[in-house]
Amino acid sequence: MGKKFDPDDAARLESPERAASMPPERTLRRLGVRRGMTFADVGAGTGFFTLAAADLVGPEGRVYALDVEERMLAKLRAKGPPPWVETALCGEGRLPLPDGTADFAFSCFVFHEAADPEGFLREMGRVAKRRAPVVVLEWAKRRQPEGPPFAERIHHHELERMVLCAGLAFRRLEFFNPSQYAVWAFRR
Ligand SMILES: C[S@@+](CC[C@H](N)C(=O)[O-])C[C@H]1O[C@@H](n2cnc3c(N)ncnc32)[C@H](O)[C@@H]1O
Repeated sequence: MGKKFDPDDAARLESPERAASMPPERTLRRLGVRRGMTFADVGAGTGFFTLAAADLVGPEGRVYALDVEERMLAKLRAKGPPPWVETALCGEGRLPLPDGTADFAFSCFVFHEAADPEGFLREMGRVAKRRAPVVVLEWAKRRQPEGPPFAERIHHHELERMVLCAGLAFRRLEFFNPSQYAVWAFRR
């Protein structure tokens, strides 16, 4: 699998172009993130989606921002997230949450960096409540200047296959645009 995102490049995650093409709050609302939910953002990075999720779930909800890279979480904390956001360092395919915690388990542009892709998905499923959405956003397997190199990208068919290998049920595939897609899964 691909190499890890360089924390020195974090500004790329916050670019106005990205916010325009993938407005985080609108994206999450459309995916079904609602007030009071417990949301797990796996590979949260600098919090592009974490902070939008916090606004959507509100103080009755909870957001867990998990990442293997402490420097990314430090940048997120520096933004002053509200108290219902908890940041935590995680391991590769080891999330510091009990089984069945999340109403929504989410990950954006992380899967292609996972050292153990199947373990990564299995763990997302474990921390999600039964039948709760497990949603993995990724870059389409195509050549383009933005995003990770072609060789590191995962074809959606491959991600769908891995979802099944990880013991999850596949729900659906959604293309946001020609470059970015989401695979929806859930734990039975
Ligand atoms: C390209 S950034 C995306 C950050 C954020 N999800 C976003 O959309 O802005 C990828 C992030 O995933 C983290 N990461 C990589 N492998 C991971 C893993 N196995 N578990 C959790 N986080 C991981 C990296 O440290 C980095 O912060």
